[in-house]
Amino acid sequence: MKRNLFLFLAGLFCWHYLWAENTPEWIRISTSETDLIYQTAPDGRLYQTYLGTKLLHESDLKHFSTERKAGSDGTVGYRHGEAYLTAGGGDFFEPALSITHSDGNMSTVLTFVSSEVKRIDDNATETLIHLKDEQYPLQVTLHYVAYNKENVIKTWTEIRHQEKKPVYLNQYASSVIYFESPKYFLNEFSGDWAKEMQMSSQELRPGIKILETKLGTRAAMYMYPFFELGLNQPVSENQGEVVLGTIAWTGNYRFTFEVDKVKNLRVISGISPYASRYELKPDETFTTPEFIFSRSDNGSGAASRGIQAWALNYQLKDGKGDRLTLLNNWENTGTRFDENILCGLMKESADLGVDMFLLDDGWFGNEYPRNNDKAGLGDWEAMKSKLPHGVPFLVEEAKKAGVKFGIWIEPEMVNPKSNLALKHPEWIIRYPNREPIYYRNQLVLDLSNPEVQDFVFGVVDKLLTENPDLAYFKWDCNSPITNAYSPYLKEKQEHLYVDYVRGLYNVLERIKAKYPHVPMMLCSGGGARCDYGALNYFTEFWASDNTDSIERLYIQWGFSKFFPMKAICAHVTSWNRKASVKFRVDVAMMCKMGFDIGLKGMSGDELTFCKQAVATYKELKPVILDGDFYRLVSPYEGNHTAVMSVDKLKSQSVLYTYNIHPRFSEDLYPIRLQGLDPDKQYRIEEINLMPGKESTYKENGQVYSGDYLMKVGLRLFTTEDLSSHIFLLTEKK
Ligand code: DGJ
Repeated sequence: MKRNLFLFLAGLFCWHYLWAENTPEWIRISTSETDLIYQTAPDGRLYQTYLGTKLLHESDLKHFSTERKAGSDGTVGYRHGEAYLTAGGGDFFEPALSITHSDGNMSTVLTFVSSEVKRIDDNATETLIHLKDEQYPLQVTLHYVAYNKENVIKTWTEIRHQEKKPVYLNQYASSVIYFESPKYFLNEFSGDWAKEMQMSSQELRPGIKILETKLGTRAAMYMYPFFELGLNQPVSENQGEVVLGTIAWTGNYRFTFEVDKVKNLRVISGISPYASRYELKPDETFTTPEFIFSRSDNGSGAASRGIQAWALNYQLKDGKGDRLTLLNNWENTGTRFDENILCGLMKESADLGVDMFLLDDGWFGNEYPRNNDKAGLGDWEAMKSKLPHGVPFLVEEAKKAGVKFGIWIEPEMVNPKSNLALKHPEWIIRYPNREPIYYRNQLVLDLSNPEVQDFVFGVVDKLLTENPDLAYFKWDCNSPITNAYSPYLKEKQEHLYVDYVRGLYNVLERIKAKYPHVPMMLCSGGGARCDYGALNYFTEFWASDNTDSIERLYIQWGFSKFFPMKAICAHVTSWNRKASVKFRVDVAMMCKMGFDIGLKGMSGDELTFCKQAVATYKELKPVILDGDFYRLVSPYEGNHTAVMSVDKLKSQSVLYTYNIHPRFSEDLYPIRLQGLDPDKQYRIEEINLMPGKESTYKENGQVYSGDYLMKVGLRLFTTEDLSSHIFLLTEKK
């Protein structure tokens, strides 16, 4: 009896000791403005008990509880939901994780094991939370990196097991987060070719709303991997609680928004499970992509600036580096060019003052020449009939002209009319027993196959080995995966969508390791591939083939929500000639500017204007590309739009105003500026004027305090159709 009492007390002591050791009262993941709090319930499961504005007093954390409030089945309460929601664990809504264990059992219940915190740098901390299933040898680790000053949290999950046979991952999201608010509003961004980033809003009601793609490669063509959430009120630029989220995955993703029975909103983010049940062998680790989010109490502008700063500091390739201005030839010549024409364009590039000439599609293929999009993809040899002296000659000629030389490739794809398709039919994603479905006359190479990965890496490696001065790549991807069958994966077809992206990352990793300083533009038949998974390897992305400057105001507005202006490529072209060259330049100038237009078709004044604009842009790059970006007046709300960039010292700012199609007698309101120092005085000067033109604004040359500019604002909009004005604000010392 005594012995039993002793064992009981010893057990109690050990249990208490272990509980105290391994079960912190709460796990707090904090940025400068946000707290995300997890707590373990007495049954050992881990719950999110708070996600919101950062709390001031650590002592208040004790008020949070996993306790259940009275409800029909006891699930209404303080806790929002399990940290990583599993199928079969008693929650009847959409799970983050669903596993078929090796014995066929489809339930998983995760309990807390331990947590640890790692310092990444002075600004970022990683919290790891280890969970396990008591009935199966299955471990799940949740990772959270909190970026303090950017107010961004990045989260992903690792799944591992030691069952005797493989298990099947049916759903394997990166994360689930919960919100508790009377109402929820979602902004989503849909698209198509030349219709990128079209924003639309809706209120979320009980039930599920899914944002997803099944396109594989050209993944974001119809739906972008970004969302904005307004808590209790629609998303607004400068006020209200807002969450911006995105997933770093260059393939099929899914966001699930579910308003549950107690009106909590669950947001599950991850790879789309569509046709992708993943077999996981014992001791293999499945690592999900990263879900990145920022929440703000002051509207979407502040959350955007957080994500933009995070991208520049941590994610975008060469985020802190400079960017090259360029002249591209796609809109100008298409595939109709030869050496002479290109050499002429290089000279024009130098004359315009841009840093580089970028040669687009149509430079390769011999037996199957790439003179249109029907042939040649895959045969990455310079076309002798057009370029008898090959790429090295072009690089040299550019050097002589005084500009750098960049080149277009689309190395993941193949035209059936190509040597590559004849030589390696087994490298092509294609059903073995059906007529192929083509998209732009091409097919996708099977990047789940390591041999194909070597080939794709080799395309870049060969060009750079033969041309060490090659300065830039535009990496295009024009087709979705149209015939989802991998000859390499054989009976494991369900791995294709995931293994393709992993194969792509493997190639891009090798390129980045060997050529860390070569800038690359990510392109996908316009802007259908732009996610932070890929942008770890690319310095910028092509936002849209739609370069109509009016359309671009909407497209760039949308992209600016998630990307720094440095990453968004905007070229001046001849789309929509109703807009003046000045208007077109003024629209491109807020982003990473380039030109793709026949300069010979311009008037003398237009060309002089463009040269001056390039020079001004180069001078103002530290403000335009590295400053903080503010969206002032939305094109979605009227006939005018305005945005501005402010440098880090708040001593210079560039303000852009656009009048799209104003009405004749429309009321015009002052534009209130943002991001300035209220106590500084700023001199305002209109720049980017056509030759011989002077500013007609009475504000031109005046000095205002930042306080006045932000509280009262300036009446800079006009009723002149398709007109634009750019102003430089300089601190007056
Ligand atoms: C699609 C891109 O978006 C264009 O800029 C151009 O590079 C073409 N592909 C070339 O085929």
